[in-house]
Amino acid sequence: MFLVGFMGAGKSSVGLALANRLGWPFEDLDQRIQAQEKRTIEQIFRESGEPEFRRLEHAALRDLLSGLGASRRVVALGGGAFVQPENAALLESAGLATVFLDAPPEELFRRCQQEPVDRPLRKDQEQFHRLYESRRPHYLKAGIHLETAGETVESVAACIAQGLGLQ
Ligand code: S3P
Repeated sequence: MFLVGFMGAGKSSVGLALANRLGWPFEDLDQRIQAQEKRTIEQIFRESGEPEFRRLEHAALRDLLSGLGASRRVVALGGGAFVQPENAALLESAGLATVFLDAPPEELFRRCQQEPVDRPLRKDQEQFHRLYESRRPHYLKAGIHLETAGETVESVAACIAQGLGLQ
């Protein structure tokens, strides 16, 4: 199952909690890209630009899916991955469950500020809001939509497991 949504949505933290709850492996697509490239996401953006990052992201997703077989896994996608039509199409054609974790953009911005992660596409608050609004219609194509504001990581994970009929 794949977690999608904007930066700060909690895809990685909820993904990990959900994986622990289900006893499934957890994977973060950005970590796979960084391990393959031996560069951080910030370095890839700075040295090679966003189009190259998107190419690597798509290749990493393809790679992950081809190694999936019948095994079950919780995967956190980077904030822009599901917005790329070719990535969404890959997941859809594989019949994989997708969950959109949402929160108001002010809250997402605040959460990002509290994390020690360098996010190349998080600039000022206005740019962040605009990008969120332009992407939201894409995220809404996910199978499940969950509001996470005011919820704990554990309660969101429990809600997903229940929504997918996994507990
Ligand atoms: C991006 C989000 C990041 C990372 C990259 C691009 C985006 O992941 O993939 O910086 O386009 O929104 P997170 O959503 O985990 O921050």
